[in-house]
Amino acid sequence: MLMRTIKIFDTTLRDGEQSPGASMNLSEKLKVAAALADLGVDVIEAGFAIASPGDFESVQAVANSIKGSSICSLARCVEKDIETAAKALENAEQPRIHVFLATSPIHREHKLRMTPERNIESAVAGVKFARNLCPDIEFSAEDATRTEIEHLCRVVEAVIEAGATTVNIPDTVGYSTPSEMYERIRSLFERVPNIDKAVISVHNHNDLGMAVATSLAAVQAGAGQVECTINGLGERAGNCSLEEIVMALKTRNDIYNATTRIITQKLVPISRLVSTVTGLKVPRNKAIVGQNAFAHESGIHQDGMLKHPTTYEIMSPADVGFLKTDLVLGKHSGRAALADRAKTLGYELDAELLSKVFEEFKKLADRKKNIYDEDILALIEQLIHEGQAGGVPKVSSGWSFVSYNLHCQTDKTPTLMLKIRRGEQEYTKEINAGDGPIDSIFLAIRDITGLDMSVKEFRAQSVSAGEDAQGDVTILIDYKGETYRGHGVSTDTIEATTVAILNAVNRMAETR
Ligand code: KIV
Ligand code: ZN
Repeated sequence: MLMRTIKIFDTTLRDGEQSPGASMNLSEKLKVAAALADLGVDVIEAGFAIASPGDFESVQAVANSIKGSSICSLARCVEKDIETAAKALENAEQPRIHVFLATSPIHREHKLRMTPERNIESAVAGVKFARNLCPDIEFSAEDATRTEIEHLCRVVEAVIEAGATTVNIPDTVGYSTPSEMYERIRSLFERVPNIDKAVISVHNHNDLGMAVATSLAAVQAGAGQVECTINGLGERAGNCSLEEIVMALKTRNDIYNATTRIITQKLVPISRLVSTVTGLKVPRNKAIVGQNAFAHESGIHQDGMLKHPTTYEIMSPADVGFLKTDLVLGKHSGRAALADRAKTLGYELDAELLSKVFEEFKKLADRKKNIYDEDILALIEQLIHEGQAGGVPKVSSGWSFVSYNLHCQTDKTPTLMLKIRRGEQEYTKEINAGDGPIDSIFLAIRDITGLDMSVKEFRAQSVSAGEDAQGDVTILIDYKGETYRGHGVSTDTIEATTVAILNAVNRMAETR
């Protein structure tokens, strides 16, 4: 039988961004979109254009600049939504409008208050309206897996008749099991007479941890498109993870007889990029892209690996973009060695960025004997966070760290002198306040900036091994009901914390 090519529809920028705490700004979205196109995804869902002016702007910016993949905007079956999506996609090389309407009895009765007949009419009207504005229309039957199969068949037939080129059968609440999903997709193929006129897609959520399994079952039953996200981001427990579905199809080609256009060697770099811009760390044991995904700890496993890698490895780490580098960089390493290592790690640095990374690398080498891959990644990612990488302008009036002097003792309030700078102006604050050193730093910054903000979340971890390892701090700050993320890395955790808070304050200024 001929091998099928499954379309990969990435929704990191839309459903992925719905993950709590994963919001991205415009320049970050553009960076992720460019990396997705480079990875070879067929469709990039860039956002939900009607949702906010910011969403409109990002769908439009992605549509204007990204080539090689279809660019898609979500829209309800409402004329205004569809018109807004079409407007945002105006300059896309290959635009797609994605209209959706819930079809399950639960949603029809409680949310939409619609009869089954009205439900079909609305879906058809939405698709027809969209089809007049764009040749490529996807229709999603939201909560399809809890929809009566008879009604779902009627909806699918009607929207294909109305002009939908792709019909998506989402497991919106992550309720389906793999065998149930297989049966549902097979039933559609058997019962919908015009089903061959459209691509059948799935979009499965991970509430029961089965999103990848249900998507694979759908592919076996005939689905030609899978919707997924980098690192499995998405509403609640997330969506089907792109890297997992792609590698499952590739590794178990003997079962699925299907391939994708994804350049799998780019999976680890894009996973890191998305983790950096969203601040959502990839768990070490995450399949395919986690740091431990190819680490062998037990003696028996290590012995087997030395004798032959296939004893304990079903995929090669290089195939997903993990490149082994034994060389540790240090004080005497040059610019070329740094550029080469960055490239191996998935970052091609232009001359300007290389100079900045090299400058920071030299400062770090003065404080730390061995510089590991994780340290170099942290340097590059910090520059991305500060908006200095990839042609993104740094906020010219942004705050930066200068120095501190801190005295702490158990059961005593900390005493702190903090110096920070904005532009050319330096500010000093001396305080005797806070529950501990971090709180004290935060209060001092709040006083200097005059911003009435509070800390929502604080995370600190080490970047690499060893007692001189750098501390990596991520902070979520609440200001006027909005959450802003900041990130800082340093061999000194207090400095990393200060940088993270200032980074969040700078993002606030940039956004507001
Ligand atoms: O989960 C879902 O059903 C969705 C649709 C809008 C496709 O995200
Ligand atoms: Zn979804």
